[in-house]
Amino acid sequence: MAFREKIWETSQKKQTNIVLALDFPFEKPIKRQNLHERAAKIIDAVSPHICAVKFNHHLVLPLGVFNGIQKLVEKTHEKGLPAIMDCKVNDIGDTNRIIAEYYFEAGFDALVANPFVGWEEGLKPVFETARNQNKGVILLVYMSHKGASEGYGQTVVDAESGTETPQYMVFAKKALKWNADGVIVGATYPEKMREVHAVLGGKIPIYSPGVGIQGGEVESAIKAGASYLIVGRAITLAENPAETSEKIKNLAWGFLAKHR
Ligand code: XMP
Repeated sequence: MAFREKIWETSQKKQTNIVLALDFPFEKPIKRQNLHERAAKIIDAVSPHICAVKFNHHLVLPLGVFNGIQKLVEKTHEKGLPAIMDCKVNDIGDTNRIIAEYYFEAGFDALVANPFVGWEEGLKPVFETARNQNKGVILLVYMSHKGASEGYGQTVVDAESGTETPQYMVFAKKALKWNADGVIVGATYPEKMREVHAVLGGKIPIYSPGVGIQGGEVESAIKAGASYLIVGRAITLAENPAETSEKIKNLAWGFLAKHR
């Protein structure tokens, strides 16, 4: 089954649209076993309340990919959840293809890529690699941090229409053209998410990080069009991650029912 359907079915079956960002603070590499155990425990505790797990450099760097994070990806799959690698692919095409091949070989179901590198000799090889293996590609469209305005938020002349357009709207249109499996728009910018959602017309799901610690709100993100909420530290650093993830899940699922 293709990634897009896999996460949708998991979400519907479990009635949750929460993607866990499995992030932890810096640890000396000598303590990597603790980090691995901590991550495994969180997956066990939180899995009933989430529809996918997103991994990041927080774990890839200390644990390594093969025999390291790969074991956590297997655990994620054992819980019936897809695994997303937030590697923000951002290089020349040949290197991008190799990055995708290694992460998919490690078992990841989808990865995050940066549309700033363009299609030809940029992300085309990543989409080709993903399509051949039924994997997904999720594109950054507007990031959740303040400085996002300096890149994703700048006004550019759209090469296709010749008109002045915000960069993120150009990326939203490219997501449609390239048939991306998802786009990322920060929960911290619900008004921009509304614009992106209008362009996507429900054809591509919006994944939204930034809820909780970064200041984004669950209801405004869902009202603006987010299909999935990516939540990290609010869960991984909570005193009781299971209870916290269940609360966020119920809140988000309730707002989905109200606003869709
Ligand atoms: P927190 O702890 O803030 O973690 O809930 C959010 C997670 O999402 C990542 N993140 C992003 N990833 N585009 C992305 O692809 C974004 O705009 C973005 N903002 C946050 C962050 O690295 C962490 O894993």
